[in-house]
Amino acid sequence: MNTKDIFVSVQEVARQREYCRLASELLSRRFDHTPKAYVHTYGCQGNVSDSERMKGMLHEMGFSFCEQPEQADLVLFNTCAVREHAEARVFGNVGALKPIKEAKNHNMIIVLCGCMMQQEHIAEKIRRSYSYVNLVFGTFAVHRFPELLYRHLRENKRIFDVKEEDGKIAEGFPVWRDRSFKAWLPIMYGCNNFCSYCIVPYVRGRERSRLPDQILAEAKELIANGAKEITLLGQNVNSYGKTPDCGLNFSGLIRQINALDGDFIIRFMTSHPKDCSVELLQTMASCEKVERHLHLPVQCGSDRVLREMNRGYTADDYLRLCKKAYELMPDLAITSDIIVGFPGETREDFDKTLDLVRRVRFSSLFTFIYSPRKGTRAAAMPDPIDAKVKGEWFRELCFVQEEIAAEHSKALVGKTFRALIESENDGVLTGRTSQNLCIGVPGDQSLVGTFAYVTVTNAGNWTLSGKLADE
Ligand code: SAH
Ligand code: SF4
Ligand code: F3S
Repeated sequence: MNTKDIFVSVQEVARQREYCRLASELLSRRFDHTPKAYVHTYGCQGNVSDSERMKGMLHEMGFSFCEQPEQADLVLFNTCAVREHAEARVFGNVGALKPIKEAKNHNMIIVLCGCMMQQEHIAEKIRRSYSYVNLVFGTFAVHRFPELLYRHLRENKRIFDVKEEDGKIAEGFPVWRDRSFKAWLPIMYGCNNFCSYCIVPYVRGRERSRLPDQILAEAKELIANGAKEITLLGQNVNSYGKTPDCGLNFSGLIRQINALDGDFIIRFMTSHPKDCSVELLQTMASCEKVERHLHLPVQCGSDRVLREMNRGYTADDYLRLCKKAYELMPDLAITSDIIVGFPGETREDFDKTLDLVRRVRFSSLFTFIYSPRKGTRAAAMPDPIDAKVKGEWFRELCFVQEEIAAEHSKALVGKTFRALIESENDGVLTGRTSQNLCIGVPGDQSLVGTFAYVTVTNAGNWTLSGKLADE
């Protein structure tokens, strides 16, 4: 792919913004009030970030936002296809919109977009069985949302834009962020890895990176607007900068963001172990704004299964990487994702996962039971293990991890950390430490969005609690 094919042209972005203006004219004729949109996002932070960009477009079309579909003139679901459960929830919630539309608001515009819609069989099911859905588009068409909505309003017919095409990057659209002090900053889109179980490369297209100047400009704007935490997003941030050739890699990008003025912290996700370099670990260790947390999904501890998953590393490679990371950053928290019950996984394979978990001692884990995804390589593999057995393994893994997490937590009692205070509820603040651990402390609402020092006084099984430290 050359640069011209990766970026949506400036003219095209201007054209889409003109559609925002045209759509707002049609909307003001259709509604006698400021139209309200309800936007709900499923799936990962990449999707959350896409929704912030689509909310920016909706805002430009004159929408304000509401918290309930019942109050909305437009409902937008940005969907996720990563596991069957995620898809089932979307179908359930789309079904629940039908009586709302029929009873309360016949004019309600229902929009479905995101990863699920980029799958042909799903778009077809919506077309056939959900006739009250007005507009459907996939991830490749996000930058055409203004035009698509305008067409729907003008022609008053259902619009589907779900064809497969090369994924692009569109710069220059406004972004609507719900929070000012915690910000998502996408640095790349798509994925080239084709892990055999995963739908993401199919629904998100090939890996492509935003240019460093665009990322730095957005980071500066975020900081100027009060961002205290910036999370750099991509399916595999460690391969940042390859397509197009950005002239710097992920470590270089981190160093440039770290050098920006301001009291803010940097997080990033997700790191793929096969591309996690010692340079990156050294960069983390030497950049004072980068937090002490590395999310490094391992998926499994058996080399045979890792090979079948097409992950590109062995359990030993992974353990060596963690060892190096702990050496460079003794206070680092490593977290991970694990899939239980991949096709053909045996008890012996699973024991290797348990062994790896015990050796790395993750601070926390996201655990998933394997879910076959149509069109992926793993979906065609024989899968003889009973769902009941997979469930037992899953609980066993959770139990082992809970013990490890409890030990980690106990060792923190008496220690003091700087934390970003994220919320307040009934006089209790929730803060997040550098290691991405949540801690509850009594305190005043005015501290939300600021850094505070907190001392851990109590370690429960799931949560830490403490008090504000006397500085
Ligand atoms: N790009 C990230 C992960 C994105 S998906 C990475 O490579 O690490 C988030 C997690 O969902 C994955 O790490 C994996 O653990 C899980 N996942 C993906 N596909 C799955 C499937 N078919 N069944 C179960 N879990 C899955
Ligand atoms: Fe999926 Fe693998 Fe890409 Fe992650 S790296 S998004 S698990 S294909
Ligand atoms: Fe889901 Fe798409 Fe993210 S499948 S996990 S929303 S990239």
